[in-house]
Amino acid sequence: MATLVEHPALQAARKNLAVCVLDDDASQVELITARLERAGFPAIGTTSPDEALQNVRFGSCRVVVVDLKIPGEGGLEFLEKALQHDPGVYVILVTGFYEVDSAIEAIKHGAHDYLSKPIDFRRLERTLDDIADLASRRSEIRELEHKLFENHQFQGIVGKSPAMLDMLDLVKKVSRHYSNVLITGPTGCGKELVARALHQLTPVAKERFAVCNCSALVDTLLESQLFGHMRGSFTGATDTRPGIFEFANGGAVFLDEIGETSPGMQAKLLRVIENREIQRVGSPEVRSVNVRLIAATNRDLRAEVLAGRFREDLFYRLSSIEIRVPGLAERRDDIPLLVQHFLKKYNEAYGKPFQGLTRRAQIALLQHDWPGNVRELANVISSAAITANTDFIDVCDLPESLQRSGRRAISYNGGAWRPLPLDEVRRIHIQRVLEMCEGNRVRASQMLGIGRTSLYRFLKRGSKKPATAARSGAG
Ligand SMILES: Nc1ncnc2c1ncn2[C@@H]1O[C@H](COP(=O)(O)OP(=O)(O)OP(=O)(O)O)[C@@H](O)[C@H]1O
Ligand SMILES: [Mg+2]
Repeated sequence: MATLVEHPALQAARKNLAVCVLDDDASQVELITARLERAGFPAIGTTSPDEALQNVRFGSCRVVVVDLKIPGEGGLEFLEKALQHDPGVYVILVTGFYEVDSAIEAIKHGAHDYLSKPIDFRRLERTLDDIADLASRRSEIRELEHKLFENHQFQGIVGKSPAMLDMLDLVKKVSRHYSNVLITGPTGCGKELVARALHQLTPVAKERFAVCNCSALVDTLLESQLFGHMRGSFTGATDTRPGIFEFANGGAVFLDEIGETSPGMQAKLLRVIENREIQRVGSPEVRSVNVRLIAATNRDLRAEVLAGRFREDLFYRLSSIEIRVPGLAERRDDIPLLVQHFLKKYNEAYGKPFQGLTRRAQIALLQHDWPGNVRELANVISSAAITANTDFIDVCDLPESLQRSGRRAISYNGGAWRPLPLDEVRRIHIQRVLEMCEGNRVRASQMLGIGRTSLYRFLKRGSKKPATAARSGAG
């Protein structure tokens, strides 16, 4: 017998490497498949390029041995299509007219090897054994990565960068003991996720965790939302209701965007923190509440205190324990892990089994500045998962801003710096942030650190001067 496989590991590796043989000559197909099967490789033979492509598409084979001169499309076109279907497939081209130049051309196009006819089966087997070895090592690495991935999730928070691990360490340490915590960090970096994790680690995890976004309500409604109200205490108060401090009694209240509260509201919050007491709107009765308070902000509260917009005493009460969630640009090591996390999530949601991202798409993600942090990354993967037509997400599936990513984000002028008037820089910057937030003005104003009214004012002002860019460009 010509092919004797002695080593059991080798035999097992060969059994896992399915090979498709494509040639327009049926007798060649038969000869090669028979030979490969004798050597222990599962082999499928066909004279139809379409059938071979289907095998690639559905993962029925890991390797295709293809004749360079198949009719209709040549072997090189087949190679291109096969790699489009599955960038991980190995294509071995076979030719009756071996030339070094065409061999190099084929390898450049992504062929794994280039053999001349009549086939040297020993060499083909050696090549296939190398592929089998590579494939089994890759699957070991994937398994290890998977295990590592499991280890790098904590209460739904994905991250392994030193900055994240330090932050999570602090979360674990303070969780048992805190009564007030301030969580800071840029928009979309995961402050709410951290707040929920913090609550999950406390001895009162089974009690309620109530959320209130302080920027979403005008003062009167915010007060009633937080402290409750009595029937008839204001127009529209048709019934008596408890607020979220009472609702979450025994558990935790999460006050998001605390930096947006008015001085009056800050005074009321200070009273809750100091005395653990609340008063429903319209009621003289003082009620005791036992809640842990987690506040979050993407503003620099110290600067707000200095500017006289935030009460110093409230700031010190809140920030005795401060957890700073790092922005994504500070922990780029986490990007691949987060991409894997969101791919899995959206794979399940959209029913598309993506294998991953092409190398150039991965590079584009690593080079981006991520002003919208993890939320922006989640949105990018979600929309790419919807638009991608192949098993791999490529650069063309990413938003345009990422396709021409890199350091571009710093320049405001299509690349070349020019001494633009500040008004113009502001207009372009606001436009970019709005694009990034898909036109959502509330989110854009949060990201820009300005109120919504200011954003509307700037937009209005900008729209009155459409020709400014052209003028300043000429000057
Ligand atoms: N480390 C992480 N691992 C997994 N998902 C994350 C992580 N950080 C953030 N996310 C996800 O990103 C999104 C934004 O997170 P979150 O709402 O907690 O941010 P935020 O800091 O509160 O934002 P904002 O300042 O706008 O309120 C959420 O869908 C959240 O689940
Ligand atoms: Mg939030």
